[in-house]
Amino acid sequence: MRVPSYVLCYFLPLLLACCAAKKSYVVYMGAHSHDPAQFSPLHFNRVTHSHHQFLQSFLESYDAAKESIFYSYTRHINGFAAILEEEVAVEIAKHPKVISVFENRERKLHTTRSWEFMGLEQNGEVTWNSIWKKARYGEGVIIGNLDTGVWPESESFNDKGFGPIPSKWRGICDHGSDPTFHCNRKLIGARYFNKGFLSVAGKVNGSTEEDFESPRDIEGHGSHTLSTAAGNMVAGVSVFGHGYGTAKGGSPKARVATYKVCFAGGGCSDADMMAAFDMAIHDGVDVLSVSIGGPPSAYFNDSISIGSFHAAMNGIVVVCSAGNSGPFDASVVNLAPWHITVAASTMDRAFASYVVLGNNITIKGESLSATKMADKFYPIIKAADAKLASAKVMNAVLCLNGTLDPKKVKGKIVLCLRGSSSRAEKGEEALLAGAVGMVLANDKIDGNEILADPHLLPASHVNFTDGLAIFDYINSTKFPVAYITYPKTLLHTKPAPFMASFSSKGPNILVPEILKPDITAPGVSVIAAYTEAQGPTNEKFDKRRIPYNSLSGTSMSCPHISGIVGLLKTMYPSWSPAAIKSAIMTTATTLDNEAEPLLNAANRKATPFSYGAGHVDPNSAMDPGLVYDTTVDDYLNFLCGLGYHETQLSMFTEGHHYKCATNFSILNLNYPSITVPEFPGSLTLTRTLKNVGAPATYIAQVQNPRGISVFVKPNILEFKEVGEEKSFEVTLKGRQGEARNNHFKFGRLIWSDGNHYVKSPIVVKSN
Ligand SMILES: *[C@@H]1O[C@H](CO)[C@@H](O)[C@H](O)[C@H]1NC(C)=O
Ligand SMILES: *[C@@H]1O[C@H](CO)[C@@H](O)[C@H](O)[C@H]1NC(C)=O
Ligand SMILES: *[C@@H]1O[C@H](CO)[C@@H](O)[C@H](O)[C@H]1NC(C)=O
Ligand SMILES: *[C@@H]1O[C@H](CO)[C@@H](O)[C@H](O)[C@H]1NC(C)=O
Ligand SMILES: *[C@@H]1O[C@H](CO)[C@@H](O)[C@H](O)[C@H]1NC(C)=O
Ligand SMILES: *[C@@H]1O[C@H](CO)[C@@H](O)[C@H](O)[C@H]1NC(C)=O
Ligand SMILES: *[C@@H]1O[C@H](CO)[C@@H](O)[C@H](O)[C@H]1NC(C)=O
Repeated sequence: MRVPSYVLCYFLPLLLACCAAKKSYVVYMGAHSHDPAQFSPLHFNRVTHSHHQFLQSFLESYDAAKESIFYSYTRHINGFAAILEEEVAVEIAKHPKVISVFENRERKLHTTRSWEFMGLEQNGEVTWNSIWKKARYGEGVIIGNLDTGVWPESESFNDKGFGPIPSKWRGICDHGSDPTFHCNRKLIGARYFNKGFLSVAGKVNGSTEEDFESPRDIEGHGSHTLSTAAGNMVAGVSVFGHGYGTAKGGSPKARVATYKVCFAGGGCSDADMMAAFDMAIHDGVDVLSVSIGGPPSAYFNDSISIGSFHAAMNGIVVVCSAGNSGPFDASVVNLAPWHITVAASTMDRAFASYVVLGNNITIKGESLSATKMADKFYPIIKAADAKLASAKVMNAVLCLNGTLDPKKVKGKIVLCLRGSSSRAEKGEEALLAGAVGMVLANDKIDGNEILADPHLLPASHVNFTDGLAIFDYINSTKFPVAYITYPKTLLHTKPAPFMASFSSKGPNILVPEILKPDITAPGVSVIAAYTEAQGPTNEKFDKRRIPYNSLSGTSMSCPHISGIVGLLKTMYPSWSPAAIKSAIMTTATTLDNEAEPLLNAANRKATPFSYGAGHVDPNSAMDPGLVYDTTVDDYLNFLCGLGYHETQLSMFTEGHHYKCATNFSILNLNYPSITVPEFPGSLTLTRTLKNVGAPATYIAQVQNPRGISVFVKPNILEFKEVGEEKSFEVTLKGRQGEARNNHFKFGRLIWSDGNHYVKSPIVVKSN
């Protein structure tokens, strides 16, 4: 067993001096002030030398400094990663040239019906108003991801029909120790970064043994996300025959590049992600998709926040996942205003697998099982009644490893509860114990969210109320029996979308004035490319290999937005990352396919804390009318407002001294949503709109949050030309006599010219 080093220290105080010793840190020093034209190996060596010299002043020698630095960030991000004693790290943090010093920690990783669901095509035909046509399927754009690498042989990354690699591309294909890894004119770049992973404390003995020393994807996650963003159109794809159709990414004609920063048996380390961002900016990506997150930390103590800040300064749009820790409040991660944070919701497809009970009640669950059950009834048993004598009841109820008794299970269907272990692992435990099938029932918290997984045996995942009905039936009869039908693909299911219960929710615990997540997109049972180094359940036991697999998570919704960003980048190459994000947010919808407000998995009305501005509507996003744009200076002012010092912020301004704007209120950051976490009873904030459509006159409409009146001044804005900007004030007034109950209230601001509807959520907490 591997013992984390801090545990050793705790129990062996005598060794404290030794162990307290060294940890892996990132030292962050802002942006490099240089002209990209000077980029050359010589220049990079000079920067690295300066990092060694800088660290030398804290250590005994240049050689010691050289040995402890394992990354020198030389392109855009200025800083380095090094193994340091804590005291030294504390000293370095005090240096005026240093913005932050933080521990290198591990973050976690969090077909293709979805595009038809979002209106880009219908019955396999691209619709007349599809953004795909106007944006030429993302041609000319380069989309990168930070993930587990890629399976380069996947048809999703075949380069048939692709012309020469865009001349702006400066990346490489670093195949590492895998000579079979090849890039092509579709997959134009591949790199991997593992020094941070290997250096993380407690893993001093770490190795990438279980993973490839190359950008090859052993996990499946990276191939899945990259192909969702920009995989080719590949006909005839299915998961064991289910969901048959054409797999495709959002920007199917875009080029892709992979930056492998996540490794099997571990996470994705800050130091590696910093290196990947620095390199991806240098290589020339247009969009970066990052389905990774960790516990929130201060903006400049967080590699994703730092990396995406530098990317945004260079015009690159970064899209991140919101996390899979829902449905709990304040669980959302990736909280910076300069990237897009994506929640997950369902689409209108189900892989229906019915559970037929002996009393003739039929329950609709979901599954992607590959195996059929004979068309007859089998005994069904609650896992608690099938437990091994040695197992704890609660563990058996969840069908955890080694808890089921083969003598009791053999030839039966087992009823397991969701939670604690992976859904596929429960199926594996049931199969190993000799079960012929498994019914997986939701706990109350997961409500209605059922997921189709490629189980190893006939299995069906049922919702909470249906699960109760099955428990009831088993209780009610002496010889309960059931069977499970082979999955069938159903389309146009209703209601859709609804929020996935796993999707992380606001409020933003770091800077509550910024609403997070920003948007929701499909993230439940998404079919996309996979690795062929593992089976679809990622269990060792699973010897099956399939080129396309179904996964669920905000990791899957994030690249949907990345693909859509690719399309907008093709159409509007000059738009800033903030303008693109605004177009996506202000055109989102808060209604489902029954024209009812979006629901959560418990059948209740969801709020902007679940979906941000709403569900993405790509065809509307290409014509937003107006955008809330934001410059790098706006972000610097925002950081000033948060208390960052001018000297620190001057590290981003090419050497010249940065002066904080006087009086800047972070409520005034020109964000496409409005959040007031502490409402004093009356308050005014400002926003600025930029016209990106034809000349038009817009009128403000407001849906007031309960108990609050919202006034907009001026409430008519006339735009005469493209690029014209107009500011307005929003005043919130608490209504007399309304109880202030410390709850969040939700409303909306909508600017419309009769043609466009520029919608922003308003979130207010009156205390
Ligand atoms: C950043 O991390 C360092 C070390 O991990 C810690 O000492 C410091 O307080 C953190 N800074 C902020 C602003 O949270
Ligand atoms: C470290 O690696 C060595 C050699 O592979 C192995 O013998 C040892 O058990 C490992 N130690 C830990 C704590 O994993
Ligand atoms: C279930 O349905 C079958 C066929 O419709 C019927 O023969 C059987 O009696 C029913 N059983 C119960 C318990 O209702
Ligand atoms: C259960 O078994 C699976 C497959 O053998 C393994 O990957 C997993 O780590 C095990 N889980 C536990 C909690 O032992
Ligand atoms: C579970 O699904 C059934 C349909 O199979 C539906 O009627 C019921 O409302 C769902 N339960 C919950 C908690 O939503
Ligand atoms: C089924 O019976 C068990 C006791 O045998 C009880 O704990 C459980 O609540 C019952 N379940 C339902 C849904 O009635
Ligand atoms: C700062 O804000 C206050 C109140 O909004 C205002 O009265 C004052 O003029 C502002 N000062 C400057 C320098 O803008």
